[in-house]
Amino acid sequence: MAFQAPRGTTDLLPPQAHALDRIQRIACSVFGLYGYGLIETPAFEQLDVFVRGIGQDTDVVGKEMFHVLSPGALAKQAEGAPLRPDDVLALRPEQTASVARAAVQHGLVPPDGATVKLWYRGTMFRAERPQKGRLREFHQVGAECLGAAGPSADAEAVVMLMHFFEECGIPRGALRLLLNSMGDAACRPAYRSQVRAFILDHAADLCPECVRRADTNPLRAFDCKNEGCRQVLADAPRITDLLCDDCAAHYASVKALLDAARVPYEEDPRLVRGLDYYTRTVFEVQADAGLGSQNALGGGGRYDGLIQEFGGRPTPGLGFAVGLERVQLVLEATGNAPDARPVPAAYLAAVDEDARPVVFALAQELRAAGLAAELDHQGRSLKSQFKQADRSGAPVVLVVGPDERAAGAARMRHMGTHEERTVALDAVVDAVKGECTATQEGDQDR
Ligand code: HAM
Repeated sequence: MAFQAPRGTTDLLPPQAHALDRIQRIACSVFGLYGYGLIETPAFEQLDVFVRGIGQDTDVVGKEMFHVLSPGALAKQAEGAPLRPDDVLALRPEQTASVARAAVQHGLVPPDGATVKLWYRGTMFRAERPQKGRLREFHQVGAECLGAAGPSADAEAVVMLMHFFEECGIPRGALRLLLNSMGDAACRPAYRSQVRAFILDHAADLCPECVRRADTNPLRAFDCKNEGCRQVLADAPRITDLLCDDCAAHYASVKALLDAARVPYEEDPRLVRGLDYYTRTVFEVQADAGLGSQNALGGGGRYDGLIQEFGGRPTPGLGFAVGLERVQLVLEATGNAPDARPVPAAYLAAVDEDARPVVFALAQELRAAGLAAELDHQGRSLKSQFKQADRSGAPVVLVVGPDERAAGAARMRHMGTHEERTVALDAVVDAVKGECTATQEGDQDR
């Protein structure tokens, strides 16, 4: 039997792996401009971190989590012995709960109210039905800002997210930024009751799952993908009509700051997002090109109660995460995916066996100077070495044969113009650097 990668996972071969790496680097540089530092947390956590952080009655926790048992857990279960928290683990479906857990465990948020900004990159795991843009293992970059209560922190996170998409190369016109406020502990309970009553009044026209949610978590009904349910729920009460004064003022300030930053958005009173920790601002960026029904590229919001869930002091927080495979799909669908393949600065070709040590040493000299160099290791003919050079995309080939060896030089051939010139071996590094600069400038002019 041929082995295969599990359903819903992908082997990222070099072109795709480089494409995702490019997006992660962009996240690193953009998020750095806003003061975010990198954090890495484990790929699995004690199950309760996610149950407590995200909410038992969310799809992510209730239906999509990969559970992991510690090696001794099965035996303990068979014996009826109690399991410890470290026996019952889960692969992370997202990283916000992990970051909140880590922030409390390591006392990351100082009591003086200073803000801590953290960003992350990594794979997340959700046992969803795989389809285009929906995987069981996928990559996210995300950012979490802890300790900032003011609306400018919400607006800054949204601006940073849109800045990131712009740097990735997605045209602004291909994106839709949706914004909503979900209220807080003061105003959400009354809203939940109204939505519950609405669901029960319209039970005959809603799916059994939505009706069940009336009693467990009524706002989750807004996430239902069933078109009939969506139409019915379009007439449900709107949270924005019921916000308390503080939440309404916060929401108005976030919108005013986005207006000031000239970031266009659409208000969507049905946007509740699929995770229970949100309070006040929520946002989502959607795109149609390349994504089909999985049209959310990224999203997030404020979660002012999450740190307390993990035993920390009351600490406001907010953040977002972006799905990298979806970003790449949109870049490809809009014709904006650059070739992220690494291209050598030079290919070195040996005319005969005696030239091989010379080109080997020359390649090392170029690499030591920070220039990627490629050469043949299979004793290929000069013709095949040129074919290889062409395939590699190197702008120049350095050829060394008996004449060049005698002259202490290499023949440098420009692959685009086919021009050739002889370069002294000790001038090769500068000559290749010059060609790289010329190629880069040419690319920019185009
Ligand atoms: P989320 O909306 O569940 O939020 O996921 C963020 C993004 O991850 C989605 O918009 C999507 O691009 C990508 N994504 C989610 N599921 C899949 C999947 N099965 N396959 C491929 N891509 C997927 C969160 O994860 C929150 N932690 C965001 C956040 C941070 N909120 C506050 N801070």
